Amino acid sequence: MLEHDVSLRPYNTFGIDVKARMLGRFASVVELRALLALPEVASAEKLILGGGSNLLFTKDFEGVVLKNEIRGLEVVDQDEAAETALVRAGAGESWHGLVQYALAQKLSGIENLSLIPGTVGAAPLQNIGAYGAELKDTFDRLEAVEISTGRLRTFTHEECGFGYRESVFKGPLRNQYIVTSVLLRLHRQARLNVSYGAIRTTLADMGIEADPTPQDVSEAVIRIRRSKLPDPAQIGNAGSFFKNPELSQASFDALKARYPDLPGYPVPGGVKVPAAWLIEQCGWKGRRLGYHGVHDQQALVLVNHGGAQGGDIRDLAHQIIASVREKFGVELHPEVNIM
Ligand code: EPU
Repeated sequence: MLEHDVSLRPYNTFGIDVKARMLGRFASVVELRALLALPEVASAEKLILGGGSNLLFTKDFEGVVLKNEIRGLEVVDQDEAAETALVRAGAGESWHGLVQYALAQKLSGIENLSLIPGTVGAAPLQNIGAYGAELKDTFDRLEAVEISTGRLRTFTHEECGFGYRESVFKGPLRNQYIVTSVLLRLHRQARLNVSYGAIRTTLADMGIEADPTPQDVSEAVIRIRRSKLPDPAQIGNAGSFFKNPELSQASFDALKARYPDLPGYPVPGGVKVPAAWLIEQCGWKGRRLGYHGVHDQQALVLVNHGGAQGGDIRDLAHQIIASVREKFGVELHPEVNIM
């Protein structure tokens, strides 16, 4: 159940070749508790791994990597007449697998989140989001094991403290709980969100002018993602490397006066600007430095063309942060966890 000196290369979508001193897999709460009770695990630093799609390893990991392989997808409440259905997913299931399961059950609510890499258990940690939807829109509750006691606890929506790419599990409760299952409240009557312009134009390209189905929206999202975001199986990456910064209205107005093309989307308390735009304006888009670089279709995505070290990508991120700060006076923050 516990392996030693394991290459983590297959376990991170950047494809960085570092080692973990120990790696333990678990497929149930019982197996997880057994692992946590091993003395060498109890005393070691722990990293809980889902799909490894939001991680950048810069060195060997001297502790224990816990690989969540808890499976299972089910509709929990079977009332066919009800407007909604509660779906429970094991944390080790692939997120996109859950989206496909929901579509097959004719349930809507997560079609905009199609093709996001990673596992179900990692989704609430950063409240995954794309094309006008976020996990928190359909999230009901999750179950998690407390690392220090092995106790199983339920977290309600409110207790998860969701924000933009944020939750309590990235903040005050970081590394204290291991998510074992997630429950979502999905709709039996399609409630589609096609507010994002690219979804509407892609649906039109697909020849769907009226009444798209959740399946159609999923297909549109998949087309958009495939056109912009590199497939980690081909080019190592972890999706957006930085979060989109939020500026106060006054800072945004001042910047907009200097750069009239600056895009911005109103959010409570200010304006969110696309980090990709700032990075592109600094001349980084499509740049390649040896084995690593910035994706040519999406400036927010850093890539490993093969053979890059994690430290190279971290250094590139620092250079990008510095040039955006210098040109625009805006501070970028990584979305990816740098280890
Ligand atoms: N843009 C550029 N240059 C580029 C790409 C984009 O200037 O190379 C500008 C354009 O103005 C464009 C705007 O940025 O209209 C927004 O671009 P896009 O729709 O691609 O979205 P994003 O803000 O770059 C965010 C999420 C993505 C998510 C998309 C779609 C974050 C950090 N990223 O990216 O999430 O898929 O919106 O909703 O919020 C991820 O988190 O890993 C991720 C891929």
